[in-house]
Amino acid sequence: MVAYKSKTVERIRLPSREERERALEGAGYNVFNLDADDVFVDLLTDSGTGAMSDAQWAALLRGDESYAGSKSFHRLESAVADVMGFPHVVPAHQGRGAENVLYGTLLSDGDVALNNTHFDTTRAHVANQGADPVDCPVADARDPDAEGPFKGNFSVERAREVVDEVGAEAVPVVIQTITNNSAAGQPVSVENTRRVREFADEIDATFVIDACRFAENAYFVAEREAEFADAQVAEIAREQLGYADALVMSGKKDGLANAGGFVATDDADLYERCKGRAILYEGFPTYGGMAGRDLEAMAVGLREATEEAYVEDRVEQVRDLAAMLDEADVPVYTPAGGHAVYLDAEAIYPHLPAAEFPGQVLVCDLYREGGVRGVELGSFAFPGTDRPELVRLALPRRTYHREHLEHVVETAVAAVENAETATGLRVATEPAMPELRHFTAELEPVG
Ligand code: F0G
Repeated sequence: MVAYKSKTVERIRLPSREERERALEGAGYNVFNLDADDVFVDLLTDSGTGAMSDAQWAALLRGDESYAGSKSFHRLESAVADVMGFPHVVPAHQGRGAENVLYGTLLSDGDVALNNTHFDTTRAHVANQGADPVDCPVADARDPDAEGPFKGNFSVERAREVVDEVGAEAVPVVIQTITNNSAAGQPVSVENTRRVREFADEIDATFVIDACRFAENAYFVAEREAEFADAQVAEIAREQLGYADALVMSGKKDGLANAGGFVATDDADLYERCKGRAILYEGFPTYGGMAGRDLEAMAVGLREATEEAYVEDRVEQVRDLAAMLDEADVPVYTPAGGHAVYLDAEAIYPHLPAAEFPGQVLVCDLYREGGVRGVELGSFAFPGTDRPELVRLALPRRTYHREHLEHVVETAVAAVENAETATGLRVATEPAMPELRHFTAELEPVG
């Protein structure tokens, strides 16, 4: 059921086909290099791109910009305690700032971090500490047609194999990412979270939940995990997050804010250590790189994110887009995730090898055909890892309407119709750090 009406609007336009061709070439076939003005429906990310509520806009005016002890910080602390159940909060300018604070505190050279699947910035921050990020997804995660309820789960069996190989003392951190963004936004069950908690205890590791999309995850738990059939999203979220020693959070997702993030913990010692690193990289620990007004917006957003009407509207919109695409015979990853629909580029371009980036070819075609911007999460974004060739269409929260979704479907249908004649891409220039390649690399058509 739709839960919002518009109060502020932003003009958008569809550039002509010639303009789109030119823009794409100018961007080196990498849509991160496009001007937003040249994009009609922008599904690059759901991160920081959503519409704030009237309550959030009102809260901005309450922002207390004091360097230390800001009232806005205390309001964020209360929101994190009420919604997530953690007493200590270290704000950061966004999720990756929080990752730097937390993983810089917990990891050192030669360590191994286990995660259901590392998101790209998480992988980069673990690697940046000299540690090795190892993914432990369940076997189904890679299969775009498997119908499992919790394909985002962490494989404790896989993690045990890694521990047998490297030794428990080499694994100080176990991470669970909910929902599992790099595995098509699939949810994680509370039962799995409990098992990971036990496993972390067994090997004496700190258990971190990457909580970016914790409310969307809780919605799936209510829907699919029998024990929680009658529970509210807010209760489930607290239960699931409560198993962790620490959270890393990007407020740009289920904080419903345009900026911000934080580390939260109930471990007083870890809190002190994180504060030290936060001062170095983010700011004094009562603002952590955020303006007081942004702390306010995030505090309100966190509370809104677990309202039943919000989260139902949110996840059902994503599911509607997936169903419309499926109906039009566009191959989509099933079941739909919480924040995005993932298109299966391997199925669309069976003639293109992974080395010619079928996912990136699809990203370019979606822009060419309809000014729609998605993002590749396959061989181009994750060089050297074995992943399905997926293209993510992430829906900004509370932003687009049914007409936009219909345009996306028409665009994807046009791309699929031209698929047989599509040719591959190769990398022309790339940055030094392979984990960050897809953000800035330029490509060129093969042949
Ligand atoms: N962890 C996960 C699971 C994420 O999805 C992201 C960001 C981060 C950490 C980092 O947060 O952007 O605030 O620094 N994901 C965005 C995306 C960028 O498009 O999926 P950030």
